[in-house]
Amino acid sequence: MDGGSTPTRPIGEADAVPELLDFTDPAFRADPYAAFAAQRAAAPLAWHEGLQAYVATSHAAACAVLRERRLGRIFAPRQPDSDWETFNWLHADSILDSEPPKHTRLRRLVAGAFGRGHVQRLAPRIEALATGLLDDALASGPEFDVIAAYAEPLPVLVIAELLGFPDVDRHLLRPWSQAIVKMYEVDRTPAQEEEARAACREFAAYVSGLAARRAGSPGEDLLTDLVQIRDGSDRLSERELIATAVLLLNAGHEASVNGFGNGLHSWLAAGKPAIDPGDPVAVERIVEEFLRHDCPLQLFERTATADVDLLGVPIAKGQKAIALLGAANRDPAVFPEPDHFDPARDPNEHIAFGLGIHFCIGAPLARLEMQIATRLLLARAPALALVTAERRPTFVLRGFERLIVSARP
Ligand code: HEM
Repeated sequence: MDGGSTPTRPIGEADAVPELLDFTDPAFRADPYAAFAAQRAAAPLAWHEGLQAYVATSHAAACAVLRERRLGRIFAPRQPDSDWETFNWLHADSILDSEPPKHTRLRRLVAGAFGRGHVQRLAPRIEALATGLLDDALASGPEFDVIAAYAEPLPVLVIAELLGFPDVDRHLLRPWSQAIVKMYEVDRTPAQEEEARAACREFAAYVSGLAARRAGSPGEDLLTDLVQIRDGSDRLSERELIATAVLLLNAGHEASVNGFGNGLHSWLAAGKPAIDPGDPVAVERIVEEFLRHDCPLQLFERTATADVDLLGVPIAKGQKAIALLGAANRDPAVFPEPDHFDPARDPNEHIAFGLGIHFCIGAPLARLEMQIATRLLLARAPALALVTAERRPTFVLRGFERLIVSARP
């Protein structure tokens, strides 16, 4: 995902590879996996004219793109800066869109809060929140929308609580975040761009106000910790603080909603292959398969900071390379029967959380939330069945608008 772009045309043999991925085709977006397989078989790292970038569809090529240090996350500010100012610095000053040494400094400041041990202590609270949501969903009738009632509110509540985002304002988070992430799609309308700009301005102003309140009356939350780092050292500027809080609030729920929704859909559509929700290892494995089979974040972009030879393909300085995570996760060279949903798949070396220095900082939290949500839902609704599924038309953030399930036989 990247907010800006400066297309550069390559020269060379990769131009000759037929283009098999049409990101604008609704049928491709609905199910890109057959096209991914065809592209991978033709050329796993090939130039894509539409995206103006090299596109990696094999596991090896996608991992190489993410691991190669000369392929960086280079944020290109959008122009004119007067229109895009807040959007630009929210990205340029964030962990996700910076490179070392700035990336190392910013990432270290929050890494501790998302470490495995720290996150594990949140389990009882996540369980209580998930139980409350499930009580309401199951009481609401024989059928309910598992996205709106369960998959979406759980990670929003958890990340909001972690950062100390006030209860009364939690309804603001999802619309801001939804408006901003539309900027990461491969096609977007001018109206969506304006909505994203407005959401950035409002979100940044809100977090700035909240940080000022925390400076005066500290809480027991991550935002207070960041305010104290900002005020007590030169390790965090005002803009970096706001960009970090906004990134955590957004990244902390967007992918988790769809990771759970997509995975649950895959499992239901596969005919509910048997799983014992009382077995923690079985629950861990099915969650990894949720993330592999239909991963929620499909595309990540890098820019060459020097000429690079990647698996025999020359990438010139300034050219872009894209890792297609969903394609990598269906590579038959790594995953036997890759299209098959296997709840007990082991090993499962998927790259839904990325790889290399930008590897998802929230992976332990996302995994814990998904494991708790899965265990509770499967234990309490053993007759769960799919009623209707309505996909979003987006590609980069892959998910469902609605997933109606029935909990009763
Ligand atoms: C199923 C859920 C999630 C998935 C699939 C996911 C996926 C990813 C991926 C693929 C990246 C790497 C981006 C790149 O290489 O350019 C990433 C980075 C990141 N994620 Fe997640 N994520 C999830 C949940 C979360 C949560 C719960 C948080 C909350 C704290 C979070 C915070 C971040 C941050 C801060 C980064 C930037 C790390 C860096 O640049 O060093 N993510 N995520």
